[in-house]
Amino acid sequence: MISPYDKPEYYDIAFIFVNAKQQVDNFEKIIKKFSKRKVKRFLDIACGPSLQLREIAKRGYEAIGLDLNFRMLGYLKKKAKEEGVKIETIRADLTNFRLKKKADFAFIMMGSLDVQSNEEFLSHLDSVAKSLNKGGLYFIQNHGINSKSGKQSWTREKGGIKVKTTFEWIYKNPITQMGTEILTHEVNDYGKEMKFVHKRDLKFIYPQEFKTLVKLNGKFEFLGWWKGNCNIWHLDKPLEKAKKFSDNMVLLRKK
Ligand SMILES: C[S@@+](CC[C@H](N)C(=O)[O-])C[C@H]1O[C@@H](n2cnc3c(N)ncnc32)[C@H](O)[C@@H]1O
Repeated sequence: MISPYDKPEYYDIAFIFVNAKQQVDNFEKIIKKFSKRKVKRFLDIACGPSLQLREIAKRGYEAIGLDLNFRMLGYLKKKAKEEGVKIETIRADLTNFRLKKKADFAFIMMGSLDVQSNEEFLSHLDSVAKSLNKGGLYFIQNHGINSKSGKQSWTREKGGIKVKTTFEWIYKNPITQMGTEILTHEVNDYGKEMKFVHKRDLKFIYPQEFKTLVKLNGKFEFLGWWKGNCNIWHLDKPLEKAKKFSDNMVLLRKK
């Protein structure tokens, strides 16, 4: 089965509601408040078509996107060229990578921090630490917090092409904390109907376990976690006081 990540042009329609301007405004606010260094270079991990890097590059920063899928990276390069901005790309696995030139701010959006074990998570933190300058921030959007199965679905349309997205997570085993995530795009492209599915087993890392693993890794300060929505994060609403956790942000700072 072809994955939705192999079809970036439809992926972009499915997530058309993302407001990159607002997100990058918020990055700049967060940097002002928490970063211990001036930010010149941004890294987007599991970047996909990265609306965010396209906005970041427009604002004059250096931008680099990391993804495993070469189609996503090719699409991002094509979009950057069309929009007249420079974006570097690197094809690598988020659990084990190294940048030639370190970034000052790293981010991962849309709950993309998928790992299959604590060891993979620690290796991810090591990779980010090696790719980030001292005092730089690591922003994580929508770290998975649920320990119950669930499903979300929405449809978006652009230029006559309709994309129905279904995102399902199936929680399977409380001992191993393993589950499955399934992302499906059902596309109607001027009458041509297609279905793309991405299915992957992953480990749900519980919040206190997440904090403990960050401590064990030793390379980051845990600055906090807060509520938000897709585009805005509320630094006055720490998750400890929240009733709903699905939209959240976590902030780490490289020691
Ligand atoms: C949910 S999408 C998020 C894309 C984009 N950041 C956004 O916010 O729309 C997840 C992305 O992660 C990439 N990906 C999946 N597993 C990966 C891995 N192990 N290492 C690097 N990228 C990965 C996929 O190719 C896809 O582009």
